[in-house]
Formats: sequence, C-alpha cells, structure tokens
Amino acid sequence: MMQLQKGDITAFGGDAIVNAANNSLLGGGGVDGAIHKAAGPQLLAECKTLGGCETGQAKITKGYNLPARFVIHTVGPVWYGGEKGEHELLERAYRNSLELALSTDLATIAFPNISTGIYAFPKPQAAQIAISVVKEMFVKAHDLQVTFICFDDENYQLYQKLLA
Ligand code: APR
Repeated sequence: MMQLQKGDITAFGGDAIVNAANNSLLGGGGVDGAIHKAAGPQLLAECKTLGGCETGQAKITKGYNLPARFVIHTVGPVWYGGEKGEHELLERAYRNSLELALSTDLATIAFPNISTGIYAFPKPQAAQIAISVVKEMFVKAHDLQVTFICFDDENYQLYQKLLA
C-alpha cells in the first residue's frame, strides 16, 4: 500500500525512515543533515561503525531521538546526464531499502525523494522509478506500508499525478 505526504520525513513516526545519504555515511546537507540533526550524535556514532555504503546499497541503524525506530541509509546516484547507469542505481537504492525493511520485519517505512536534491536526478524520472520499484516489490510483500514524503512542491505534485 503506498501513501503520499508533504513535509519533513524526520517527523515520521513509523518503523523506519530512509535517508538519502552519501557513500561515507558521515552525514551531509539536505535530508541527511535533517535526519542526523533530529536523531542526535548517537546516529553518527553508529554510522561510523558501518564502513560506508556503496551507491545503490542500504544499511540500517537505530533511530535514536527520531520518532522512527530505525533509519535505513541508502546512497542514490549523482546525476551525470543519464548515461552512467543512474536509473539502474536509483532503482537499486529503492529495492535494497525495501528488501532491508522486509528482512527486518518492518511494517511501515517512509522514503524521501532520493537523489533529486543535491544529486540533481531529474524529479519526473526519479518519481517514475520510485513508484514502479515499490509497486513491483509489492508483488512480493503486500504487507509493507510505504509512505513517500515530499519536502518540495515539485516532487509532491509529480507523485500526486503518478499515484492518482
Ligand atoms: N524531509 C524530507 N525530504 C527532505 C528533507 C526533509 N527534512 N530535506 C530535504 N528533503 C528532500 C529534498 O527536497 C529532495 O527532494 O530530499 C530529497 C533529496 O535531496 P537531498 O537531501 O539533497 O539528497 P540527494 O539529492 O540524494 O543528495 C545526497 O546530499 O545531503 C547530502 O549527504 C548527502 O551527499 C549526500 C547528498
């Protein structure tokens, strides 16, 4: 089941929120910065034990001061024009985050719009990828509730149209 929300993912009170991190997993700007700020320093301390994260892969930590129990850190691709496997890597980031949520027996998970900020992935294409991967995964496990949380209007309107 997919839901759409406009707002700040750090306020999500479900089982896990997905962080659009970078390969170091040592924090950054955008949603990564907001999540680390809300979770507190213990999140960074745990991230330091993970040895980074490959683009397209996903790793899980506790949520600490966040209302969500866990944070699933994934690294989306930087957009280089679309000829460097960016679509495949973004699909992998969504798929691996969902697999990790399923294998951790989570019931509810929230995604930001991975790679569409600092990494400059075109929002319309990223929205198509996010929704089609979640739909395809739902064939496997219908009981995971996925919420897309859009912080900016452009993404929100794109998802509204695609999910209508
Ligand atoms: N809640 C939900 N979504 C947010 C929030 C928030 N608090 N803050 C930003 N966003 C949205 C942005 O509007 C964008 O649509 O998250 C989406 C992803 O943007 P970025 O956070 O810039 O992430 P990304 O494009 O994947 O770039 C990752 O940015 O923060 C650094 O360390 C991070 O190097 C990595 C890079």
